[in-house]
Amino acid sequence: MRDEMPVVGGFEGAAPEVVVRPARTEDAVLIADLSASFVVSDKLVRRSLKELNERIHELSVATRDGVLVGCMGLSRYPHGIVVYNFCIAPDAQGNGIGGLLVDHAARLGRRSGHRRLLAASKYAGDWFIKRGFERILPEKIPDEWLKFLCPGRGSCLFQLELLDQNSSD
Ligand SMILES: CC(C)(COP(=O)(O)OP(=O)(O)OC[C@H]1O[C@@H](n2cnc3c(N)ncnc32)[C@H](O)[C@@H]1OP(=O)(O)O)[C@@H](O)C(=O)NCCC(=O)NCCS
Repeated sequence: MRDEMPVVGGFEGAAPEVVVRPARTEDAVLIADLSASFVVSDKLVRRSLKELNERIHELSVATRDGVLVGCMGLSRYPHGIVVYNFCIAPDAQGNGIGGLLVDHAARLGRRSGHRRLLAASKYAGDWFIKRGFERILPEKIPDEWLKFLCPGRGSCLFQLELLDQNSSD
């Protein structure tokens, strides 16, 4: 999914030089490099460079002073938009950049009329809850959403309702 225009951080607590923009082909290697340590620590699912290249149109990146420090993939389904490969460089974490990327995803979802943002996460559930997501209990997960959990991975599924929130976007 592509954004129409970059989002420039300017909210309280975020550095103004942070920019969220659609990923470009040349970003794929940087996204793979950024993601690698999170794959090793089991926080992200392994994706090949080939897959990242093929899905580049679904990816957004965050840059700080022109340096790529964050990424997020967004897959569009009829029942919602699914966040994947979402990570922020360790030395850039805690500055609101992850929040900026999720806000960006929510804005895109509302604009395209999607009902919800979905995220499967093994270790960052509390972060999503803080951002207004709610955990979907395993027994309440519709069968067609189970694929987002990657069988056997042990992730939980979180959702952010998009259409019941007031927004000027
Ligand atoms: C989760 C992640 C994307 C958040 O990005 P970020 O830019 O650091 O997030 P923000 O700066 O917007 O938010 C920081 C806040 O979240 C908290 N936080 C960070 N990781 C957290 C986690 N795993 N669980 C709960 N809270 C977390 C920080 O302590 C901070 O709290 P504060 O605002 O009270 O100080 C980032 O920590 C990351 O890349 N984690 C590793 C990869 C990962 O787990 N990705 C999610 C896969 S679905």
